[in-house]
Order: sequence, then C-alpha cells, then structure tokens
Amino acid sequence: MEAIQIAIDGPAGAGKSTIAKRIAKELNFIYIDTGAMYRALTYQVLQSGISLQQEEKIVQLAKETDIMFENGNIYLNKKIVNKEVRSNNVSLYVSHIAQIPIVRELLVEMQKRIAANNNVVMDGRDIGTNVLPGATLKVFLTASVQERARRRYEELERNGTLVNLDDIAEQIQLRDKMDAERSCSPLVKADDAITIDTTGLSIENVCKSIMNLLNLKAPLVNNN
Ligand code: C5P
Repeated sequence: MEAIQIAIDGPAGAGKSTIAKRIAKELNFIYIDTGAMYRALTYQVLQSGISLQQEEKIVQLAKETDIMFENGNIYLNKKIVNKEVRSNNVSLYVSHIAQIPIVRELLVEMQKRIAANNNVVMDGRDIGTNVLPGATLKVFLTASVQERARRRYEELERNGTLVNLDDIAEQIQLRDKMDAERSCSPLVKADDAITIDTTGLSIENVCKSIMNLLNLKAPLVNNN
C-alpha cells in the first residue's frame, strides 16, 4: 500500500507539533518535527561561535552535522537536544539560518528521505508546498498572535525561562514575517491545504477534525 503522508504547516505557535505528535501516536505513524531540525542546526551554529553573516561556514557546519530523530527525541551529533533546541535564544536566530538555500536543500533532502516509504506526520513551514507536495492530507494551522504568544510563553515558563509576553508576541511576529518573506520556500499555505484556526479550540477538537479529514482522503487508515 502507498505510504500515507500528513503535512501540517503554519506559523509559529499555531499548535503544529502538539497536534502532529498526537496524531502520529494515534495512527502509529512516524512524527517528524522539521522545525526541530532547523533549531538543532541553529543551536550548533550558536555553540560554534559562528556569526550569522558567515554563511559559508554555516553551510559547511550543516554538511558536517548529524541530525536525526529516534523515539521522539532529536539528536544532534548523537546527543539528545530536545530542551536546548526549544530555548528562546535558538528561537531568535533560527529563521536566519532557515533562509539559507543550501541549508534548506540539505534538510529537505533528509526530510524526504525519512518520509519515503513511511507513513508520516510531518510539520513545518514548507511541507505541503515543497517537502511533500503529493501528501495525502495537507493542513494549515493558524491561531491569533495573542494565543500563539501565550502558548509559547507557557512552554518557556514550563522549561523554567521567564520572559515577557509582549516580547514573545513581537518575536513571533518577526519570525513569521521572515519565514513568510524569504525567497526560498517561504511559509505559505499550499493551494490544496485545509486551514484550521486553532484559536480557542482544544487539542482534542483539532485532532478530531484532522482525523475526520484524513478519513475522507484515506478511509481505511484510522478505521481499525
Ligand atoms: O516549527 P518551529 O517554530 O519550531 O520552527 C522553527 C523555525 O524553523 C521556523 O520559524 C522557520 O524559520 C524554520 N522552519 C522552516 N521550515 C520548516 C520548519 C521550520 O523554515 N519546514
């Protein structure tokens, strides 16, 4: 049977990873958080002391860096970096790294390789448009800026980082602007993606909507 691919795109804090993880678990699919891959490389760049202007060095580092997923963990050169990649410092710089075309080429190739022949739920910015253009189901998740900032604020607070909510809202808007305006695979809804505004919706309800949509596209998948 042909592999089932679910592509979930959308701006920062729209709930993509929470929802994608749940759906993957429910369907027993592989979950691929492509944002975590760009974050892992950004973390590595920051650790190496390379400046954002040194594009050639960043590309070289990207070629030498081993990023992989296993059992829901993200590994950077064989070390689990789940917490490190979610830091606010990484969030501040990741969109600069993610706009370098060769960096994208390298990571997209990796993402396509993981998705080939596997049932996957993949979330990011360019999954429906670029990484998996033939995905079985494409969802574009959005939410109001206030709600997205609040979610990110709570995530950082849970991780022990104290931040200002207004600063987070500003950072999120800046990151969305950079992601949407870059020339190489910008954040944009695929023509055949279905938009779900998650503002005020529970995680359960969003997951249910996606499962219903999948049922229409691939009726046998979640019927067992
Ligand atoms: O999804 P998350 O917010 O963790 O993604 C972090 C950043 O990685 C995004 O703001 C974007 O710059 C970049 N990204 C991307 N393409 C993807 C996934 C993430 O450019 N497919």
